[in-house]
Amino acid sequence: MMGHVSMNNKRSSEWFRAPGYYGFSRRAWLRSEGFPADIFDGKPVIGICNSWSELNNCNAHLRDLAVAVKRGVIAAGGLPLEFPTISLGEMFMRPTTMLFRNLMAMDVEESIRANPLDGVVLLCGCDKTTPAQLMGAASADLPAIMVPGGPMIAGQWRGKALGSGTDGRKIFDLYRTGRLTDEELCEVESCIARTAGHCTVMGTASTMTSLAEVLGMTLPGCANIPAPDSRRMAIAELSGRRVVEMVEAGLKPSQILTREAFENAITALMALGGSTNGVIHLIAIAGRLGIRITLDDFDRISRRTPCIVNVKPSGEFLMEDLFHAGGVPAVLKRVESLLHSACMTANGKTLGENIAAAESLNDNVIRRRETPLAAEGGIAILYGNLAPDGAVIKQTAASPELLTHRGRALVFENREEMQGRIDSDDLPVDRDTVLVMRSCGPKGAPGMPEWGQIPMPRKLLNQGVADMVRISDARMSGTSFGTVVLHVAPESAVGGPLAVVRTGDEIVLDVPARKLELCVAQDEIAARLKLFQPPKPHYERGYGRLFLEHVTQANLGCDFDFLSGP
Ligand code: FES
Repeated sequence: MMGHVSMNNKRSSEWFRAPGYYGFSRRAWLRSEGFPADIFDGKPVIGICNSWSELNNCNAHLRDLAVAVKRGVIAAGGLPLEFPTISLGEMFMRPTTMLFRNLMAMDVEESIRANPLDGVVLLCGCDKTTPAQLMGAASADLPAIMVPGGPMIAGQWRGKALGSGTDGRKIFDLYRTGRLTDEELCEVESCIARTAGHCTVMGTASTMTSLAEVLGMTLPGCANIPAPDSRRMAIAELSGRRVVEMVEAGLKPSQILTREAFENAITALMALGGSTNGVIHLIAIAGRLGIRITLDDFDRISRRTPCIVNVKPSGEFLMEDLFHAGGVPAVLKRVESLLHSACMTANGKTLGENIAAAESLNDNVIRRRETPLAAEGGIAILYGNLAPDGAVIKQTAASPELLTHRGRALVFENREEMQGRIDSDDLPVDRDTVLVMRSCGPKGAPGMPEWGQIPMPRKLLNQGVADMVRISDARMSGTSFGTVVLHVAPESAVGGPLAVVRTGDEIVLDVPARKLELCVAQDEIAARLKLFQPPKPHYERGYGRLFLEHVTQANLGCDFDFLSGP
């Protein structure tokens, strides 16, 4: 009846083999779910940490995926127990899912730590669910493997493939300017997002799930399999089998998530043309293990890494095309000389061993190093008197002619003001104006929403101007594009220089020189900052108050100060 303790169930045995009443009652209560007595017979207990939710369409299929994981766990001799956590649906949550990433990470960490588990399978997909699970699992540090839900299949409209967020925004601009009818917009609405799964461009979800694979936290080839593809179920089953072996071997996240693994992830982020959000999330995940990666690491690696993945918003194709071209392993093969190939991964092999036989099957989707999409990585880090602690730009999704630019600022105090004015016919803008928006950072908004892609003023769209320089302390959706400077740190709400830019001030953006400068004398900036008054806090109580009191700035990953460290 009491079973036995093996290497596989050492931790869960502390619950189920506890002496006296406690062991008895825990066994009895678990058996109320209909399990026979032999489930305690040396079997490792594998938690399936599921971010399924009908309030998160991207993850709506994860209960089906959990069934496949369970098959694998059982086949390998484990006991799978599925449990929910909070899920973060990018499209629905107010004011932004980023406000809740740390809450989900805490939920994941404490659910793993508090329960009788020997190992865990992490099911994720939509943007924040992947970093939140990686942060929580890194802190809990039990053997863990991730199975992302995969990208949705491509939208289709009148013979054209549509990529969720990226094409949605372009199509909506056509509608805003009267070039698309209500009926046509309604048609697009029906077919741009056709299946469960995360957005099908190289947005934040595709970026973070791909980086989870690069970090070694998934089986090789897992990240890019489309959500409805049968191979996703198969790899979920294999992951269920594998986690049982990981428990036996004692292979923990802290052995996989090393500094070298994070450098590999940064290299992949650049080669993929991945989301700027990847910068914040990688810093936060690494921080959980006491590994300090900085914006300078991103810039150093960006300068040596070509952007070779031709997927929207930086390129032309969609995630489905990347999968058919060979996915993450084929991308890594192309930049192999820039990687630490000895890093350990979830399947017990090194990254180098995993990609040994990988090859690109489509050189237009995964470009050769000699013919990249861009010579440098997708993301550049900027510094200057407007961003003393750094700012970020996705240079591959920007207009090349605007990467070096001087223009006069038009300042919006916050998003509400911007929304109220942006389409007015007398907005004082021309194509050289630099739009500046503040109060969008971690504390200012709060939660640092994806408001950074300030819409193009309708006045300029009607003149055929498609892009202009925009600067804020916000984030931007990974599906967005344009010459958009983001993550300005320190943010305006804590008295960063962004707080004192005035309409009419000149600003210089020089991406090749990595500069973001406010052309105002330093004395004058200091005098203006002396008058700065911090805004009233958004929350007096509850989780919001905890967030405001403990969230760090964008350059530090926006984790809570008390959660970093092993
Ligand atoms: Fe979930 Fe885009 S809305 S990934």
